[in-house]
Amino acid sequence: MQQTINACADKLAEKLISLSESKEAIAVGGHTAAFTMDVIASTAFGVDVDASSNPDHPFVYHSKPFLGLAKSEQFFIKSLQIIRVILIVLLPRKVKEIFGRFFDMTFAGQESMSYFENLVNRVLDLKREDAQKRNDFLSMCIDNMVDIKDVHKDSINISDGKNLDNPRVYPVYLTGFSCEYNDYEQMHEIFKSNLCLGLTKEEVIGNAVIFLIAGYESTGATLQNLFYLLAWYPEIQEKLYTLTSEISDEDGNCDYEELQKLEYLECCILETLRLFPPLPRLDRVANKDVTVKGIRIPKDMIVEFQVYALQHDPKYWPEPELFRPERFSSENKDEFNQYAFLSFGAGNRACIGKRLAMLELKVAIAKTLKMVKFEKGANTPRMENLTYKKGPGLIQTMEPLKVNIVKRQSE
Ligand code: HEM
Repeated sequence: MQQTINACADKLAEKLISLSESKEAIAVGGHTAAFTMDVIASTAFGVDVDASSNPDHPFVYHSKPFLGLAKSEQFFIKSLQIIRVILIVLLPRKVKEIFGRFFDMTFAGQESMSYFENLVNRVLDLKREDAQKRNDFLSMCIDNMVDIKDVHKDSINISDGKNLDNPRVYPVYLTGFSCEYNDYEQMHEIFKSNLCLGLTKEEVIGNAVIFLIAGYESTGATLQNLFYLLAWYPEIQEKLYTLTSEISDEDGNCDYEELQKLEYLECCILETLRLFPPLPRLDRVANKDVTVKGIRIPKDMIVEFQVYALQHDPKYWPEPELFRPERFSSENKDEFNQYAFLSFGAGNRACIGKRLAMLELKVAIAKTLKMVKFEKGANTPRMENLTYKKGPGLIQTMEPLKVNIVKRQSE
């Protein structure tokens, strides 16, 4: 997998070198996002995209509705898409089922659904022909796939939620892929029974798409934020450059084990995530009545955690607005409360993509710092002046995080 990520990071480094010819400060966010799109397209779907050079690639186009982005910038089409999504979210399920007989009521649109379904079919064909040895997520799942058509509805007995002749079938409702058993309660019962042994095609597609939704913006934004911070902290940037150069060849390729051992690199990423947690708030639902520090939380109440506030609280983080990677060093790790850092969440539902995200970030940092350095320019916003967009979802600054990119002279 690291080789695949290396290839994507090479494209990012090339792009940044070409941008270094500009004298203006540049918002790198679009390019770091293109890098993570390339990584997910290749590691999850086995598709080579190069999103930065091919912004019209079908993978980029059909990913947009899943990422909450409009496929078209035309006002009329954009408005129609927004109305459609609002209707899909708000309409009761029964009404949606009736509408669905006449209109496309899939969340991302039938065209994009079909695109991803066809990708899986193509991987299936390649696998059958054994024409290529692949190690992307789709190819790995396909060996354990069950065909939904082979399962009769009657073979599922959900009366007690456990007695299932074939417990392997339940639909992926999150991404809106419809299948024969698209009854929410039925799916939930089967899911609860925890007896699912294989994956249907719908589940495979659904999981690959979830990788895209969960891993694209969070990782791309973290890389952008780190480049921005390095521009303000040149001494940290040079230390990182020296340490990564020691373990990399002339193209910036690093050995996996060596990369994992580089503690300072990990600390820089974690400190970036502390200052800019991509998900600024998390929530949980109480599954029973409970009293915490005198506050009664009734069953089913949603409890929200303000991750951003926690990670900027001087009670837990002295001088919280300063970028200090050594806070996370093995020497200092016991100094802070582990639950005061929730950028990847905690507990049973913590981020499952953390290892992939860390690997992507480490590879990209080692590669790019080998080629370029980031400097603050006249248009680089000061940290204390940053403001954030209001609303749900991922945190986003109002100001583009522009930095100057300077090509390194090879020594
Ligand atoms: C820097 C990058 C990333 C950050 C900061 C991040 C952060 C998070 C957070 C905060 C959660 C919720 C945890 C909770 O509620 O306790 C989460 C969940 C999740 N993440 Fe990530 N994530 C990142 C990258 C990725 C990647 C690359 C993938 C997949 C390829 C991924 C897949 C997921 C999935 C599937 C969940 C849901 C887990 C569940 O509900 O059980 N994430 N992530």
